[in-house]
Amino acid sequence: MNIKKFLSIKIHKSMIQSGIPSKYNVILRPCKKKIFGNYQINGIISAAIHLKMNPNDLAKKVVKNLKLNNILSKITISQTGYINFFLKKKWLSNQINLLMISKKLGLTENIIFKNIVVDYSSPNIAKEMHVGHLRSTIIGDSMVRILSFVGHNVIKSNHIGDWGTQFGMLIAFLKLKNKKIDFLLSDIEKLYKQAQKKYVKDINFTKLAKYYVVKLQQKDSSCLKIWKKIVNITMNYNYQLYNKLNIKLTHRDTMGESKYHDMIPNIIKDLKKKGIAVNNNGTIMIPIKGIQNKKGKLMAIIIQKQDGAYLYATIDIACIKYRYDIFKADRIIYYVDSRQNQYLNQIFQIVRNAKYVPNNLQLEHHMFGMILNKNNKPFKTREGTNIKLNYLIDESIIRAKNIILKKNPLIKTKILEDLSKKIGIGAIKYADLSKNRINNYIFSWEKMLSLNGNTSLYIQYAYVRAISLLKKANINLNNFLNLEISFISSYEFDLAISFLDFEEIIFKIVNKGIPHLLCNWLYKITVLFSSFYENCNILNIKDIKLKISRLKIVFLTSLFLKQGLYLLGIDVIKKI
Ligand code: ARG
Repeated sequence: MNIKKFLSIKIHKSMIQSGIPSKYNVILRPCKKKIFGNYQINGIISAAIHLKMNPNDLAKKVVKNLKLNNILSKITISQTGYINFFLKKKWLSNQINLLMISKKLGLTENIIFKNIVVDYSSPNIAKEMHVGHLRSTIIGDSMVRILSFVGHNVIKSNHIGDWGTQFGMLIAFLKLKNKKIDFLLSDIEKLYKQAQKKYVKDINFTKLAKYYVVKLQQKDSSCLKIWKKIVNITMNYNYQLYNKLNIKLTHRDTMGESKYHDMIPNIIKDLKKKGIAVNNNGTIMIPIKGIQNKKGKLMAIIIQKQDGAYLYATIDIACIKYRYDIFKADRIIYYVDSRQNQYLNQIFQIVRNAKYVPNNLQLEHHMFGMILNKNNKPFKTREGTNIKLNYLIDESIIRAKNIILKKNPLIKTKILEDLSKKIGIGAIKYADLSKNRINNYIFSWEKMLSLNGNTSLYIQYAYVRAISLLKKANINLNNFLNLEISFISSYEFDLAISFLDFEEIIFKIVNKGIPHLLCNWLYKITVLFSSFYENCNILNIKDIKLKISRLKIVFLTSLFLKQGLYLLGIDVIKKI
């Protein structure tokens, strides 16, 4: 249940009954001071001003109409018209018992089912993935999990860069040096770097590279052969990395730039016919209204070069059309860094102008900031090159291993391997996901692997405590599903009431693509659980009713922590 929504709907009804126009929404907030209540309604004052009434009188009227005797207790009204109330323990107990049997941890909202394409990770071929791909991969993966969890049909789309100029350079270079490819990805990357250098210096080579891009895009068989090999080598490497990172992408989700190639000639023809694209001395471009460059000239997006080659933008236009035509997408979300925001918005505008998608199709760029080092500069190696993702993951696993060994020097090797992977990878992911994606963030090993604070390890550790309590208790809670929960302290009450915020958080994330809200919520649950654990006796109590009721809260905590971490792409651990 979404407790705020549930209460708000009921309160809104009584506001209308009290003569308040329906446009005045309920503003429901948790009370800042616990002694006043669990929640506060503070939308009454502005309505009172509008109705030229005394806010206290109006609030009294609303309270009279509330009729929530089974749910609320101790309602108080402040002189200025705030309404504070507590929730009845009995009602909360019922909700908690319902959670015990709920299939989806209390999610009840009926969604409007959608086909949602999520464009994420999308590395470029012929290069190893580096830190720059981390955010798109991790945030995209978490969003795929969350959108699927609420019941949408999610189409994962790994838009790999497999059709660009880099292949012209590589093919030209390989042909020139008469080299066969039977390499590792790291060798290809080296060759690519050499080719890039030559491309800038040597005009003849530039021409040759451009010639080969066009040849490849015309599907010349010898070019295609080399291309395929390079793509396979790169992607096989990437699939291993996804696997290690517990990212849901496989070869089935790889839909690279090359996939849309055959659609392009017709699209260009159509865009010209519609007057959206123009031919400027053999270059086909789409002028962008309202945007000028520094010299005051109108800006345009080029979709075909004079030599016939297509570009990144041409492919993105075709790709959106494909996603609508074939996947019947209702919503397409891009997890791409913020530097491409203007570009993507222009592409969205173009496909809308061309009527390739209906007006109600949602096109969203969920952009994100950069990862920085301690000096606020882009997080790179000492030599100034990009940090390889593979290195980063391994480093995190090693650091996690050292932490575990300090706590438990005699741990068995196999368990150590497994734990350090779960902790190390969880740390990298959580550090990223727990930040508002719009902002840059500073990468810090010390912070992300800390046992205290807003980290995955803190949450994973709480999970260990919860399940070991349940194991020690060894009681089948299913036999006590109807037994009322006794809330004797605020420790258990505060934790239990927070469970009812889960649905609200999940749907905010579904709408806006901001998984850091889930991290914040999990952190809150963990903090509340820790104080409950430290302050309340759970196993050594004689009162069996109290024991069962506390164990139910522990059990639900473990479920929420596990599910919450799963939705972030992080595994739980069973011991440490
Ligand atoms: N390969 C691109 C890059 O590394 C990202 C692709 C994002 N998706 C897209 N449809 N343009 O910058």
